[in-house]
Amino acid sequence: MRIAMIGAGYVGLVSGACFAEFGVDVCVVDTDHDKVEALRQGRIPIYEPGLDRLVAENAADGRLSFTTDLGEAMHGADAVFLAVGTPTRRGDGHADLTYVFAAAEQVARAAEGPLVLVTKSTVPVGTGRRVKEIVQAARPDLQIDVASNPEFLREGNAIGDFMRPDRVVIGVESEHAAKVLKRLYRPLYLIETPVVQTSVETAELIKYAANAFLAVKITFINQMADLCEKAGANVHDVARGMGLDGRIGRKFLHAGPGYGGSCFPKDTLALAQTAQELGAPVTIVEQTIAANEARKAQMAERVVAACGGSVKGKRIAVLGVTFKPETDDMRDAPSLVILPALVAAGAQVVAYDPQPAHARQALPAAVEFASSALEAAKGADALVLITEWNEFRAVAPRKLSTAMAGRVICDLRNVWDPAAMREAGFHYSSIGRP
Ligand code: UDX
Repeated sequence: MRIAMIGAGYVGLVSGACFAEFGVDVCVVDTDHDKVEALRQGRIPIYEPGLDRLVAENAADGRLSFTTDLGEAMHGADAVFLAVGTPTRRGDGHADLTYVFAAAEQVARAAEGPLVLVTKSTVPVGTGRRVKEIVQAARPDLQIDVASNPEFLREGNAIGDFMRPDRVVIGVESEHAAKVLKRLYRPLYLIETPVVQTSVETAELIKYAANAFLAVKITFINQMADLCEKAGANVHDVARGMGLDGRIGRKFLHAGPGYGGSCFPKDTLALAQTAQELGAPVTIVEQTIAANEARKAQMAERVVAACGGSVKGKRIAVLGVTFKPETDDMRDAPSLVILPALVAAGAQVVAYDPQPAHARQALPAAVEFASSALEAAKGADALVLITEWNEFRAVAPRKLSTAMAGRVICDLRNVWDPAAMREAGFHYSSIGRP
C-alpha cells in the first residue's frame, strides 16, 4: 500500500509515521520547504514522545519520505490523506477550511487516476461533500471517492493512541474506499480494534461529538469542584465515586483550571457554530465554552485572593505553562489567560516548564523563565501550579519552603497532598478539596 499524507503538522506527521510503521509506503507532503528539509535530515518540528525514533527508523527503511512536490507524493498512491490545519476562523468561531479546500483543488489537478481522498483533519459535517464538489469541478473526468477518517490522538500519547486506538472511524461513500481504509488499518485487526463504518457525514460528526462530550465532562467536574469548595466536600472523591459507575467512567473527571489545547476549544466552538447554522443548537456545548472561558480568568482571581487580595510587586512562581504535560504545545493553554492577568495586576512572574520551546513567545515578555521548579520558587511570595508535569509531584515541600520567601501555594491540578503541604507551613489551596 502507498499513501500520500498532505500536511506535516501534528496530525499528518504522527499518522504518516504510524502508517509507515504499519508497513505502508508513506510520502508526507508539505508546502513549507524548511520544514520538509528539516524532516529529511531527521529533525522533528514538534515534541511528541517516540516520534523522532519512529520517523528516523521508517525513513531509514525507505517507507517514509518527505517532499514539497504533491505530484511526486501522489504518484501511485492508493489513497491521499488531507491532514492540513483547520484553525478557528477569526470572528465567527467556525473552522477555517481554506487549507482543506486549497489542498483538495491541488489534489484534483495532480491526480493521475481514480482517487480515494480521505480527510483526517477535523472538519465540520458536510466538508467531505464540499471537497468532492471542488474536485469534481476542477476535474470532471476524475473518478473520486471521498472518505472521513478522524483521528483521536492525544498529544503526548499520540503514537500509543494511533497504534492501540479504542476504535477506528471510517466514513465512506463506497465499498472501494472502505476496502482501502480497512487494508491500511489491517495491523489493528490483530488487537481486535472495533472499526465503525458510517457515512462521511456521520464520521465527521462523531469526531466533534466525542471531543465536545469530553469537554462537557471536564467542565462538569470543574463546576462540581467549585460546588465542593462551597460545601466542604472533596471533588477527588466525588469523581471517583461517580466514575466507578460504568455508565459514567473514571477518565476525564480531573478538576483543573479549564481545558485547553489544539482540539477542545476549537472543536467545541466549531460544533456550536455548525449546530446553530443547521438549526439544532447544542446549548450544552455553548454553555461549556462560556464556562471554560470564564474559569481560566477565575483562576487568576483565585491566585490574587490567595495572595491576600493583591499581587502588586509580588514574586509569583508558576510551574507548568503548556496546556498539558508531555507536550510543548501552548495552544489555548490556561496559562495564556492566567499569566497575563497576573502580570497586569502587577505581579513579577517567574515560570518554569520542562518543555518551554514555545512558551516564551506565547507569554508576555515580562514573564521570566527559570530552569527548574526550585529555581522558579526561589524568593517567591507565592507559587502556582498550572500544568501537572510528573516531575512536580516529586518536589519536596521542605525544599519549596526553604526556597520560597512566602507561604502561599495554589495547586490548580491537585498534584500535592494538602496535609503534607500544611505540615510544611504552607497556606495551600487546591481545586475542590477542603
Ligand atoms: C484531545 C482528545 O483527547 C483527542 O481525542 C483529540 O483527538 C484531540 O483533543 P489533547 O488535546 O491532546 O487531545 O489532550 P487531552 O489529554 O484530551 O486534554 C485536553 C485538555 O483537557 C487539557 O487542557 C487537559 O489538561 C484537560 N483535561 C483533561 C482536564 O482538565 N481534566 C481531565 O480530566 C482531562
